[in-house]
Amino acid sequence: MTKRKINHIPYDKLKKYIEDESMTESLMARADEIRRANYGNKVYIRGLIEVSNICKNNCYYCGIRRSNDHVNRYRLAKDEILRSADFGYGLGFRTFVMQGGEDPSFSRYFVVDAIREIKNKYPDTAITLSLGERSYEDYKAFYDAGADRYLLRQETSNPDHYAKIHPKEMSLAHRQECLYNLKKIGYQVGGGFMVDSPYQTTDDLIRDIRFLEDLEPDMVGIGPFLVSHDTPFKDFKDGSFTKTLRMVAILRIVFPYALIPATTALGTINPKGRELGLKAGANVLMPNLSPAKAKKSYNLYDNKLNTGLEAAEAKKSLEKEIASFGYQIVTDRGDVRDKN
Ligand code: 5AD
Repeated sequence: MTKRKINHIPYDKLKKYIEDESMTESLMARADEIRRANYGNKVYIRGLIEVSNICKNNCYYCGIRRSNDHVNRYRLAKDEILRSADFGYGLGFRTFVMQGGEDPSFSRYFVVDAIREIKNKYPDTAITLSLGERSYEDYKAFYDAGADRYLLRQETSNPDHYAKIHPKEMSLAHRQECLYNLKKIGYQVGGGFMVDSPYQTTDDLIRDIRFLEDLEPDMVGIGPFLVSHDTPFKDFKDGSFTKTLRMVAILRIVFPYALIPATTALGTINPKGRELGLKAGANVLMPNLSPAKAKKSYNLYDNKLNTGLEAAEAKKSLEKEIASFGYQIVTDRGDVRDKN
């Protein structure tokens, strides 16, 4: 595997960058320059298909946690997934992201089948999976069926912090093992975390960056923690928007080659979130291609952006808006640039 260029930032500097509000603009300017040097003004788009909101996990922060009885649970049928892909392909999407809760009845065979069908029909597309922790054998079968990338946020890299935001049956060690398994199999791998999740300290964020430096991820997805009213963390506060922008910028500086999305959570917390996310060094947008019932019921947090420009249908207006910020949406698989 190629050794990638990583810009290690020493502890004291990193701490200042994370905590000091007055650093936001200069960090964003530097990150934007680095992004331009690696990717020009190109923005890659991914068609997000929210395949299931059924989840066996009970993460304290997440709106689709197992114990939340106020969720209309759904699982897309294979033909619904395929129709979303057909629709997206027509709009110019060349990456599809199948994202879902850890749904035990999403069998290996079902997922393999869906991947094969999309890949047979659209060989020029990339398939990204975001289906949580699965066995090595499942990951391998998905990869052999044609999946290219896998997103699995580590959420935090401090085991004590991990234990404060997840129930005992989940462990950071297992999550990290999954990430290394995915790398070993050959996936382009994405990690990430929430900014300002309950009990998170600056040292935790620094540890996340150190963990990612070791993992050398192809993709890094982050967003602010956002309150979900049906969870044990309902009384915490939403994360800081500007700290999240600084974190996006820091990630671009540390990982110049990486694919970094301006996430839905960033667009939810601030109306200019996705624009400023791009200006802070992000180079990926993930509009939602899911059928209406999925869009309505896939709520990890409150007030999720779900009308307007995050919808894939709005690709034309999105293109225009992105162009007005000085970026260009491309019809391309948008693989990671490995040249550095
Ligand atoms: N606020 C922000 N992000 C959340 N996620 C889950 N719940 C929340 C929340 N309340 C993020 C997690 C998960 C990703 C799919 O969504 O980081 O990995």
